Amino acid sequence: MPPAFKQWITHLQTARTERLLKYAANSEVISFAGGLPAEELFPAAEIEAAFQYVIREHAAEALQYTWSEGCEPLRERIVDWLHEHGLSAKPAQILVTHGAQQALDLLAKLYIHPGDAMVIESPTYVPAIQAFELQGPRFVSVTRTSTGLDMGQLEARLRFDSARLMYVIPCAHNPTGGTLDVAQRSDLLEVAQRFNLMLIEDAAYADIRYGAFHPPLAAIDSNLKHVVLVGSFSKVLSPGLRIGWIFAAEEVIRQLALIKQASDLQTGTLNQLVLARYLEEHSLRSHVKRCLSVYRSRRNAALSALAAKFPAASYWSVPAGGFSIWVGLPPSVSSEELLKAAVARGVAFEPGLPFFPEHKSQNYLRLSFSNLDEASIREGLTRLGGVVKESLSPTPQCPSNPRASAGTSR
Ligand SMILES: Cc1ncc(COP(=O)(O)O)c(C=O)c1O
Repeated sequence: MPPAFKQWITHLQTARTERLLKYAANSEVISFAGGLPAEELFPAAEIEAAFQYVIREHAAEALQYTWSEGCEPLRERIVDWLHEHGLSAKPAQILVTHGAQQALDLLAKLYIHPGDAMVIESPTYVPAIQAFELQGPRFVSVTRTSTGLDMGQLEARLRFDSARLMYVIPCAHNPTGGTLDVAQRSDLLEVAQRFNLMLIEDAAYADIRYGAFHPPLAAIDSNLKHVVLVGSFSKVLSPGLRIGWIFAAEEVIRQLALIKQASDLQTGTLNQLVLARYLEEHSLRSHVKRCLSVYRSRRNAALSALAAKFPAASYWSVPAGGFSIWVGLPPSVSSEELLKAAVARGVAFEPGLPFFPEHKSQNYLRLSFSNLDEASIREGLTRLGGVVKESLSPTPQCPSNPRASAGTSR
């Protein structure tokens, strides 16, 4: 008999990715699902020029294997990014990964032993839950809202559960779009030091911010005893390049490089060198500035449309960063059910349930505005607002059946 699947694999969410691809392929549906950057903002000509340069001048190196830790020119450019964000770093503290997603997977493999308690924000980024879940931890969830993390709850949980690891998205949190302010960041680090906690800080959206810059947790914990920082070029440049990174103490990077070797040997040399060339030739900061003005307008268009088209019983976050708005509906509404009605009207979104590690609340949904123009955002939210209003209006009752009225809730 072939070996059985590991039990927790069967618990993983697959619907999300399927849904994302399905709606992306269906041009009839205005899709707020998936945190996709806007295609029209990709610097395609500059990337093409970088590819041509690398193949013309460095073909032998670019088409060959490289180090598991990553190519030196790219690690140096990542160090530059870290310096710009107030961190002092050297290339030996960097591991280049296949996107931030692989970084989370490698960190899960390094730090999680089956059955270990691990703190996780609730709600949080769904594929992070998946990456951690594969290593079999016991999740200890702490409430995160667009205004911050429930620090009282975190301390209470840490007193009770001996967790040594926590996953946190301080900046432009996915899905709420909230950002921890400086005081919350120092409080979090103080708690990490007191309870001997390692923080996996996810900065995938750190540069997609509509408000003030706050230094990463890794800048406060300058000797990197309690923080490993994960970053990505997906949201600011292109997810198709599949390049992310980990910044951590050298000893941690050495361990992670061994795990990466076992997993995929290395991230593609060609893509690494092309990205390094692009970053040498162009200012990523200027590119991000151009993108931000588009994303900010789209966020504002979505917020205005929500205010105009959604019923009073709904509420939503005003994202300080990122690509999405987190919408709450009355507890009687199931966003999975709502999605079926919405798709029939030509609009899609991400139901909120999978974002909760404990799968507790079904009445939330995530709307990503980044890859839609403003007219589509307005049209999509007009359609969706109508569907939400209908879901809240009382079900027509049959006078001959008195039990129908008792079961009706708004
Ligand atoms: C919070 C967060 N972390 C990590 C990732 C993974 O990004 P990448 O494309 O770099 O793998 C995403 C992608 O949506 C994300 O939202």
